[in-house]
Amino acid sequence: MNKKTIWITGGSTGIGKALAIKFAKEGWNVAISARRENLLKETCGEHENISSFPLDVTDKNKCKEVFQNIVDTFQGVDICFFSTGTWDPKKEKDIDVEQIENVFKVNFFGTLNSIKAVEKYFKDRKSGTITIVSSIAGYRGLPNSTGYGPSKSALNNLAESLYFDFGRSNVRVCLVSPGFIKTPMTDKNDFKMPFLKTSEYAAEKIYDGLVNKNSFEIHFPKSLTTILKVLSFLPNKIYFGLIGKLTKYQKKKRSSCLKIQSSKVIFISLPLTGTNKTYSNLKAGPYEYPLALPTTSPAVPS
Ligand SMILES: NC(=O)c1ccc[n+]([C@@H]2O[C@H](COP(=O)([O-])OP(=O)(O)OC[C@H]3O[C@@H](n4cnc5c(N)ncnc54)[C@H](OP(=O)(O)O)[C@@H]3O)[C@@H](O)[C@H]2O)c1
Repeated sequence: MNKKTIWITGGSTGIGKALAIKFAKEGWNVAISARRENLLKETCGEHENISSFPLDVTDKNKCKEVFQNIVDTFQGVDICFFSTGTWDPKKEKDIDVEQIENVFKVNFFGTLNSIKAVEKYFKDRKSGTITIVSSIAGYRGLPNSTGYGPSKSALNNLAESLYFDFGRSNVRVCLVSPGFIKTPMTDKNDFKMPFLKTSEYAAEKIYDGLVNKNSFEIHFPKSLTTILKVLSFLPNKIYFGLIGKLTKYQKKKRSSCLKIQSSKVIFISLPLTGTNKTYSNLKAGPYEYPLALPTTSPAVPS
C-alpha cells in the first residue's frame, strides 16, 4: 500500500470534513475522527478512501488507541491535521470559568492529547507533518473572547515551541490560522464576518500549504490575515484604541457596512493613533468591510 495517509480530527463537519474530501479526491487515504459517528459514516459512504475513527479528543488514552488503529490500518501516517474546536459566542462575553475550562479542554488540551498520541511515532519515523489548527483570534486579544481567543493563543505558542522540538527529528510542525470560514461553528455568529469564505476554499488553501509548500504558518484569506498581522505589530495603545473603535462602532451600527478595498485598509490602519481622524477619502471598492471606521474615538488606555 503506497498511498499516503492523513489523519484529520474534527473531520465530521466544516473545515476538517472539507479537507478530508479534498485529500481523498487527491488520492490519499484519509482517516477522520470526531465524536458524531453518524456524520463520519455519512462522509465515508460518499468517498471510498475516507475511513471513520470516532474519537473524543478529551480522552487521552482513546487518542493513543485510535492513532494506533489508524497506523495499523494504513501501515503508516504521513500528516496529522488536528482541527477539533469549540466556540460559543454567547458564552464568551463574561468570565465563566467552567465554560472557559471546557473550551481549553477541547481546543488546547484536546489538541495536546492528539499531539502526544503521535509524538513517539513521528519522532521515531523522522519525517511527516503535525498540523495544529489555530485561528486569527489567537493573534492578539479581542473583545468578547474570554475562552476561545486565549485557547488559540496558547496553541500558537505551543506550535512554535513544538516546531523546535519536532524539528530536531525532521518532523514538520505547521500552524493553520483561518480567517472567517462558513461552517457550523461560525453559523452561530451574530455579527457580520469580513472576508467570509467557504470550507472548500479553506481546504484548497490548506492542501496547497501542506503538500506544495513548506512554511510554518498557513493563513488565509490573505486579504484579512495581512490586516490582522499588521494590527498585531501595533503598539498596545494604538491596538486597543483601534479595536475599541471598531467594536464600539459595530455594536452601534450593526447593519452598517463600509465598502472599501482591502489594500486600503492596510494603509489606513497604520496611521491610526487613537485620536480623531476623518476617513472621508476612502474609496468604494469590491470588499464589504463591516468593521467600519467611526468618526469619533472612545477612550484609549494610556
Ligand atoms: N470557521 C472559522 O471561521 C474558523 C476560523 C478560525 C479557526 N477555526 C478553527 O478551525 C477548526 C475547525 O472548525 P470549523 O469551523 O470547521 O468548525 P466545526 O464545523 O464546528 O468543526 C469542529 C469539529 O470539531 C469536532 N469536535 C469538537 N469537540 C470535539 C471533541 N471533544 N472530540 C472530538 N472532536 C470534537 C466536531 O465534531 P463532533 O462534534 O462530531 O465531535 C467538528 O468536527 C477549529 O479548531 C476552529 O477553532 C475556524
